[in-house]
Amino acid sequence: MGKLFRALLLQFVALSVLAIAVYLLRHVFTPPYSVWVLVLMQAGLAAALSWRLPVWWRWIQFLLPLGLYGASLLQVNPWLSLLIFVLLWLVFANVNKERVPLYLTNSVTRQALKVLAEERFGQQGVQQRFVDLGCGLAGNVVYMSRLPQIEHSLGVETAPLPYFISRLHVWWRGGEVRAQDLWKTDLSGFDVVYAFLSPEPMPKLWHKVQQEMRAGSVFVSNSFAVPGVEPSQVWELSDRRQTRLYLYEITTSSMSLPEKRVAD
Ligand SMILES: C[S@@+](CC[C@H](N)C(=O)[O-])C[C@H]1O[C@@H](n2cnc3c(N)ncnc32)[C@H](O)[C@@H]1O
Repeated sequence: MGKLFRALLLQFVALSVLAIAVYLLRHVFTPPYSVWVLVLMQAGLAAALSWRLPVWWRWIQFLLPLGLYGASLLQVNPWLSLLIFVLLWLVFANVNKERVPLYLTNSVTRQALKVLAEERFGQQGVQQRFVDLGCGLAGNVVYMSRLPQIEHSLGVETAPLPYFISRLHVWWRGGEVRAQDLWKTDLSGFDVVYAFLSPEPMPKLWHKVQQEMRAGSVFVSNSFAVPGVEPSQVWELSDRRQTRLYLYEITTSSMSLPEKRVAD
């Protein structure tokens, strides 16, 4: 069961428990009751019931009833709430299924990608094909498409609003973006495969990389290492967040590779 659904269910459980308690105790504590006290009890109960969820979920569970009651006191237009919800969904559509939100590669990291493209061009003497899996607003796709060492720069993206913006971006400044699930993207035609996702999909993505990427290509993961697999190189960048790029050189042609491979 998805965490979002579980969190909602726990809010309903808390509400039911509270309603039963209020009904049973109505002779002990005579009504009327302060709504704020009830809302606080709902918030506390929902947060307590969510003890098995990660800590930030408990905070969300606590703040949700307070926010809803506050909004009703302030008479926030429900259409506005709906609009905000729809906008958030359009941007963060992949969070629920993939556990990957939208955050963007910074310029220092992009320069490191450029160095990588230059190095590989120097070694192999051929232009490189680049793909950004989950390309966000296509910043990397555009940047790489402008490098002379890059033959083709592609991004795939499934969140509706980032996809729409990235289409405009590449139309204006170069590169290509497809509304395509990264899991359905064939990696065999790329020399440099870049991903900036989250820890969650890394084991599955590594499996895909092993199956599809050609010998001589490189898989680059921004910030999230593949668990249990030694990267060929780790680039520690000098940006504020001290980004780490994990480079996995594909040295053997796929298909028969074992699940875990320690790269040289
Ligand atoms: C952390 S952002 C990185 C954006 C961009 N690559 C960058 O580095 O600036 C991850 C992106 O992956 C997208 N994403 C997540 N799962 C995806 C999937 N299965 N297929 C395509 N895109 C996906 C998200 O919508 C989000 O835009």
